[in-house]
Amino acid sequence: MANFTQNLALKYRPKQFLDLAGQEYVAKVLKNITLSGDIRNAYLLFGSRGTGKTSASRIFAKAINCLDSKDGEPCNKCTSCVGIDSGNSVDVQELDCASFGLVEHMRSLKESVQYQNLISKYKVIVLDEAQSMSKEGGGALLKILEETPKNVVFVLITTEFDKILETITSRCINLNFGKVSNANILSRLSQICEKEGISCEKGVLELISKKSEGSLRDAVMSLEQMVLYTDEGNPLNLSKLKEILGILQDSVFEDLLNSLKNKDLEGIVRILLKIEQKNISYMWFLEHLTYFFRNILLAKHKLMVQSGIDISVFVSVWDEKELISMIDGIYVLMDRLSRFPFAQRTLVNNHFLALLYR
Ligand SMILES: Nc1ncnc2c1ncn2[C@@H]1O[C@H](COP(=O)(O)OP(=O)(O)OP(=O)(O)O)[C@@H](O)[C@H]1O
Ligand SMILES: [Mg+2]
Ligand SMILES: [Zn+2]
Repeated sequence: MANFTQNLALKYRPKQFLDLAGQEYVAKVLKNITLSGDIRNAYLLFGSRGTGKTSASRIFAKAINCLDSKDGEPCNKCTSCVGIDSGNSVDVQELDCASFGLVEHMRSLKESVQYQNLISKYKVIVLDEAQSMSKEGGGALLKILEETPKNVVFVLITTEFDKILETITSRCINLNFGKVSNANILSRLSQICEKEGISCEKGVLELISKKSEGSLRDAVMSLEQMVLYTDEGNPLNLSKLKEILGILQDSVFEDLLNSLKNKDLEGIVRILLKIEQKNISYMWFLEHLTYFFRNILLAKHKLMVQSGIDISVFVSVWDEKELISMIDGIYVLMDRLSRFPFAQRTLVNNHFLALLYR
């Protein structure tokens, strides 16, 4: 295994607008707003998963507060930028609406918005997964947006634009994050490989780009997955890549879903062991698992889904509530994994075993 101490997706999180691959339009708008100094109160960043929305919200928070900004870009060196990057800034809050999006939360937000900024020029409140906000929570947020003080900026983020109240979207500057093109993904992966000294057989990066369906996060995670799978000094191998993509796309997910449904402890243990033995990154696996659950959810609503797997069998056995709670649970789990990387194996095992006893 290669010597990796840092998660590649995090290490290569874009730190400047310039780094946002394939999002030139959005980057330009946010940069121009920063340069003009006419910072509006509310923004909605929307679009498909893994395309740079969360990264862009942080870049923007840094840019408008930067003490040494150039051309609308954050310097990434001043105390403000460093504080925001490390998550220690008291004036920049990131809230996940899946767990924070109820009326009572909004009330406390309303209060905190009224306090004077402690250090920064702008207080920035990022509401991620804005589609998960309760209806009443959305109503309360609307009231806050109507009377936001001048130095407070809201950045809402969602993958599901349609689920955001129109009264809210109409108050925001709406910025669409399109899927990243294969060519852009390929060039970003090549850059990362060059910086990390990773060599690849012909076709590896092309296949990863193609398989990530416009999500740069997926692409970077697949790359990392391959690196973990490869002995140090060897180039990333094309047939191994195909093997990994195969393992994860078909049987494992189907088996896991069946085992969960049948409360088959042995089955679950077997699958988790396989993932561990194959050295498959848990984050990568979980990310794909949510995708799988989401596809079933969409299929239940007779929405077209693109999937290599026949999910019709799952549509009838999983009900909506179960699916939503599975997806929510996995996101909470992923958050824990990123905070406690040394305990990933235990956390994942506990999570799935606990599901059997519900
Ligand atoms: N446009 C991009 N340019 C460069 N890297 C990107 C881009 N989009 C995603 N990435 C990579 O993926 C990681 C995750 O990106 P980010 O969290 O910004 O995506 P997101 O759009 O918020 O995803 P999600 O909708 O799943 O929350 C980044 O740390 C980076 O490594
Ligand atoms: Mg995000
Ligand atoms: Zn700065």
